[in-house]
Amino acid sequence: MSRFAYVNGQYLPLSVAGVHIEDRGYQFADGIYEVIAVHQGRLVDEEAHLVRLSRSLHEIELAWPVSKAVLKHILRRMIAINLLKNGILYLQITRGVTRRDHAFPKPGVTPSLVVTAKTMKPTPPEMIERGVAVVTMPDQRWKRCDIKSVALLPNILSKQAAKLKGAYEAWLIDEKGFVTEGSSTNAWIVTGKGEIVTRPLGQPILAGVTRQAILALAKEAGLKLVERPFKPAEALKAQEAFLTSTTSWALPITRIDGKPVGSGKPGPITLRLRQLYAEALDKGL
Ligand code: PDD
Repeated sequence: MSRFAYVNGQYLPLSVAGVHIEDRGYQFADGIYEVIAVHQGRLVDEEAHLVRLSRSLHEIELAWPVSKAVLKHILRRMIAINLLKNGILYLQITRGVTRRDHAFPKPGVTPSLVVTAKTMKPTPPEMIERGVAVVTMPDQRWKRCDIKSVALLPNILSKQAAKLKGAYEAWLIDEKGFVTEGSSTNAWIVTGKGEIVTRPLGQPILAGVTRQAILALAKEAGLKLVERPFKPAEALKAQEAFLTSTTSWALPITRIDGKPVGSGKPGPITLRLRQLYAEALDKGL
């Protein structure tokens, strides 16, 4: 199946789609992005992604390249022309093409908008049955991780280091020893008292759309929730640990730095939240 990308007003075969080499996204990582899941041909939690997109744009003083209504149309068209059933849409907005200079370009330079589509297979059952491993490492990112910036070098280096250690994700640790989040996921534990714990929103973490959905589902189910930071030592004493993201949903973590979490098997609360999330997706989140 041929794939199509959207680039600044045109739908092009992926093989010929491109932006100019003086795009500020390419030169400075001067831009932001979103990853939106597509489930059974429908966008998942579209509104929440657009709210976060709008916030990221505002924080880096970048105007919407098209109206929200037009963007929604583009996203739908991308699903249609790519015959996308289950996968993701990646959208990126950068400060446009101009001669390299650190300061913002003069008014008149239009931001670049790019959208790509990708089919994704469901998470392999053994990952859910066995859980995944994470390894901890210092959080070397900038201080505005609430902005969904395309500048992801520390995230990439952490993920690669985790991969080389046979782990699925890196848990990033702040200067006080607390877990901020994963390199591309939010971090959670379930304490011995059955409390679901995740770090509160703020500049050190991304406001995950899946995090928000899981919090709402847990609340609806009457589960105990606490938004506070936690350390890896507490996670190792916890009953369960898990991660959330658009592509992973809620995924059990059963090893941290090579040591088992709880029983060393995925916990009931994580699996229940995953199930609730799957049901919400089918109903239309
Ligand atoms: N990553 N934290 C970070 C640093 C992330 O990059 C992501 C998402 C999340 C989870 O956010 P959400 O639930 O909205 O997907 C948390 C995306 C999927 C990515 O970069 O591919």
